[in-house]
Formats: sequence, C-alpha cells, structure tokens
Amino acid sequence: MTAPTTPGPAQVRSIFTAVASRYDLMNTLMTFGLHHLWRRQTARIALQGLPRGIWVLDLGCGTGDLALALARRAPFARIVGADPVVPMLKVAQGKAGRLGLGGRFSPVAADGIALPFANATFGAVACAFVLRNTPYPPAVLREMGRVLVPGGRLAILELCRFGDSYLERAVAWYLRCVVPLLGGVVTGHRGAYAYFARSVESFPTPPGLAEWVHTAGFAQVRWRRLSPGVALVWGVWPG
Ligand SMILES: C[S@@+](CC[C@H](N)C(=O)[O-])C[C@H]1O[C@@H](n2cnc3c(N)ncnc32)[C@H](O)[C@@H]1O
Repeated sequence: MTAPTTPGPAQVRSIFTAVASRYDLMNTLMTFGLHHLWRRQTARIALQGLPRGIWVLDLGCGTGDLALALARRAPFARIVGADPVVPMLKVAQGKAGRLGLGGRFSPVAADGIALPFANATFGAVACAFVLRNTPYPPAVLREMGRVLVPGGRLAILELCRFGDSYLERAVAWYLRCVVPLLGGVVTGHRGAYAYFARSVESFPTPPGLAEWVHTAGFAQVRWRRLSPGVALVWGVWPG
C-alpha cells in the first residue's frame, strides 16, 4: 500500500486497518521494546494523585497497549479505549481478555474530534501516538478537555519533531530510512511507515505541543523527553 503525502482521515483509517494485525510486532521491533516503558511512564503521570475507581479514557487506543498499562496501574479504574478503526479495537479487546482485564476495558468505536461521551465523564485522559494522525489536533485537545472532570489529568505520549543533537538527527534518519523498510517486511505496507516518518517531521517540537495543550485550556502544562524524539506532555483540566 502506498500512502499519500498528507493523508486525510479516511486514508489514515485505511492505513491502520491495513497494519492492525502486525502493528504490535512492528512497534516492538522498531522501538527495541522501549514503547512498553514509555507507556508505563505515561500511565503513571496520567493517574498521579487521582482517586481510585475513576473512569479513564485512552483516546486512539489502537491495539490497547496504553489502555492495558493504565488498567494495570489502576486496579480499580474502568478504562474506555476509543478509536475509529475497528480492527485495531478488536486486537485490543482480545489482548485485554487474554490478560484478564477484559472486565475493566471497554472498546468504543469513536473519533477524537467528536467523542460520544458527556462532559466531565473521565478522571483522566491519555493518548499515545495519536495526535499526529488526527486532522486538527487542537480541536481534539479541546474535546479531551470537555470529557475530563475539573481537576482531571491529561497525558500525551508522542513522537515530536527532532532537535539538532546528533542523536536526534540519527533517530530522524532511522525513522525516514530504516523504519519504512522494516515496516514493508513486517507488515507488507511500506507506505504506511513512510507516512509515519513524515507525520513526525511535520509535527511540533515538544514545547510546541505543550503550547497547544495550554492553548486548548489546560493548566499546569509540563513536558519531559523520554527518549530522543519521544515526549510526554501533561496538564490538568481547570476546576
Ligand atoms: C499510531 S496509532 C497509536 C495506537 C495506540 N494509541 C498505541 O499507542 O499504540 C494511532 C491510532 O490513532 C487512531 N486514530 C486515527 N485517527 C483518529 C481520530 N481522528 N480520532 C481518534 N483516533 C484516531 C488510529 O486508528 C490508530 O489506532
């Protein structure tokens, strides 16, 4: 499959439909397994200081790895995983069942631009590697604020545009040149992983993403670099 330079929402959905069955394997290979560590850190920041038994949203949950990290970290929470791509949700549901977390994980087919949840439903919202794939990320950020309770927390794990250090330039080269080849071999969809590299290059830097989060209405916005090119940004929905 070849992906156009700037795919629209329907093309993004077809990219993730095409790679759903091999998405997890590819994540583990291309990050050398580090993505599990990044997700655990994201879950910890999303849930910090929140009461037990809350509802938590994993927006763009895909195959559910962040949702499952949230469920493990918060044994009394209920996790909703929202994603418009049903084949990704099916993988997530299967994994939750196999890990004995199916009773606390609810997959919902939904788009981040218009979530089918009432205002102030969730104590925390987290998302991993999603905003780059949505047509207008600032609107999705506002929608995440709408469904958060006052004082609720947002945590975003994202690949951001790279800085100028040698290490970050090496990672940019790896994404542009190696990952599409690997993606072609592992998933059969080299174009999907070429799109992936381009989507990172056209995304803001970590401070730029933090500024978007702030502009969407969040307070106490902070960010941290987890690895070269990988940022965790979080904020609180004002009470
Ligand atoms: C790179 S994957 C990340 C999946 C998962 N969060 C993870 O950490 O592995 C991007 C996900 O965003 C979803 N997505 C694409 N457009 C979306 C939208 N408009 N609203 C919500 N999710 C969307 C895709 O279906 C896909 O599952």
